[in-house]
Amino acid sequence: MDRYSSAPSHSARRSRLRPATRRRLWRLPFPAALSLLISSAIPLAAGADESAEVTGAQVYAYCVDCHGKRGEGGANGTYPRIAGLPQPYVDRQLHAFKSQTRVNKPMVPIFKHHRFDAEVIDLVAGHVADFTPPRLSLWPYEPTPEALAAFDDKAAFAAAGADLYAEACASCHGADAGGDETGKVPPLIIQYPAYLKKQIGDFARDERKLPADGRCGELDPAQAEAVISHIVEVGK
Ligand code: HEC
Ligand code: HEC
Repeated sequence: MDRYSSAPSHSARRSRLRPATRRRLWRLPFPAALSLLISSAIPLAAGADESAEVTGAQVYAYCVDCHGKRGEGGANGTYPRIAGLPQPYVDRQLHAFKSQTRVNKPMVPIFKHHRFDAEVIDLVAGHVADFTPPRLSLWPYEPTPEALAAFDDKAAFAAAGADLYAEACASCHGADAGGDETGKVPPLIIQYPAYLKKQIGDFARDERKLPADGRCGELDPAQAEAVISHIVEVGK
């Protein structure tokens, strides 16, 4: 958690915005015309000057419509939050999307720009890692009736989530679900529950490659919700 609390002062200023103000900012439409203008100025397209300097912020213009100005994500997690993810993890995911070892159809066209090489990936991953995650108000997590039906009551649901998390996930993702020191195991508390649920399902169905010894898919849908509810509880 320390790497979030030691955020630079401009981010601290942002985080002092009252929740209502933040929600209003969040609803502002992205300046689509502006981002198009920026994109066409980015020297990544085929035929562009190869020697031109590119910055991470310029490359991020390719991402902003889906992941938001501050990497906050949107559409209830259809577009995940990427603010709060460490650079090594972002780097690894972008390479996995590029090689399609991790399937992510909406992002495929991005990698058609021929300069989207390791250096450019590194630049944009660094830019993303500098974002400070805006707070999400996710607590309390409302389980679906199907998930609750798999347990005796809400207390049993909550206890199962805490036990499963401690037994199968905490060793890697951390007791606080804040990820690991190397930046290779992602934090889970920053993320939309719907996105977490999709990823756990993708791991379970073998649609996303499990990390070595990773137990990320070892949960049925009801257990997944119990664990996600625990993660939301830890992050509240
Ligand atoms: C057209 C929409 C779209 C654009 C543009 C886009 N993304 Fe994504 N991105 C997605 C979706 C959807 C996912 C979730 C895929 C899944 O469900 O596994 C995702 C996932 C990710 C992830 C993985 C998050 C995690 O927690 O594992 C990272 C990192 C990421 N995007 C970074 C970027 C960057 C950097 C750019 C710009 C260079 C970008 N994306 C542009 C739609 C987009
Ligand atoms: C041996 C270590 C390890 C264990 C145990 C583990 N994970 Fe993971 N998990 C990882 C790593 C490493 C990744 C990143 C994989 C990658 O780079 O694609 C990951 C990724 C994830 C993601 C995707 C996050 C995102 O932003 O896309 C979710 C969700 C997740 N794990 C949930 C869990 C849950 C729930 C458990 C327990 C049931 C668990 N993991 C157990 C190491 C582990």
